[in-house]
Amino acid sequence: SAASDVYKRQGLSSEMNWQAEFLDNPEIRLTFDHFPFFQKQGIMENRFSFDYQHYDSPEGMPAGDRELVEEARRAVARAYAPYSKFRVGAAARLRSGKILCGSNQESEVFPAGMCAERSLLFHAGACHADDPIEALAIASEPSERECYPCGQCRQVLLDAERRQGSPIRIIMSGAGGATVVDSAVRLLPFTFQL
Ligand code: THU
Repeated sequence: SAASDVYKRQGLSSEMNWQAEFLDNPEIRLTFDHFPFFQKQGIMENRFSFDYQHYDSPEGMPAGDRELVEEARRAVARAYAPYSKFRVGAAARLRSGKILCGSNQESEVFPAGMCAERSLLFHAGACHADDPIEALAIASEPSERECYPCGQCRQVLLDAERRQGSPIRIIMSGAGGATVVDSAVRLLPFTFQL
């Protein structure tokens, strides 16, 4: 680009010159990549990492998680997915011990359908709002791969955590095993909040 050519010609030592010369020129788009000087001055480099457990097989899983995965697998049978043919089941354990299930429900009007996770979460919010969700398992058919919640479901999982004031353990099963996180917070950094 023009800016990087200028930058090469002028070298790192002339930061003040290019500021004076080019910042006013709308033809030249300056980006941080062209000017490492900026990175040293005003940018904080950060890295996001998060903890999760991976279980290769049901035997290694905590009993409660394994039972919830079995419930989610049963819920897959109640999915209605004639269009995508991707059937998803979700099961949640509430603090009272009650188990709720959800499955994806598709529509003739394509975007009107609903994911398994959100069908469960909205039902929980509508009918069991005083009974917090402690854990939620997800299963799918085909089941060769683990099924991870979509972006919208991650947001709604976080909404539910905030609403109830406690984390939801999420067990994402498939391929005979599961990946587990202790809160939806792990799955969605920089979450939207009104
Ligand atoms: N789906 C879910 O129900 N949950 C997920 O985590 C991923 C996707 C559904 C939505 C749609 O009915 C089908 O799977 C294919 O996207």
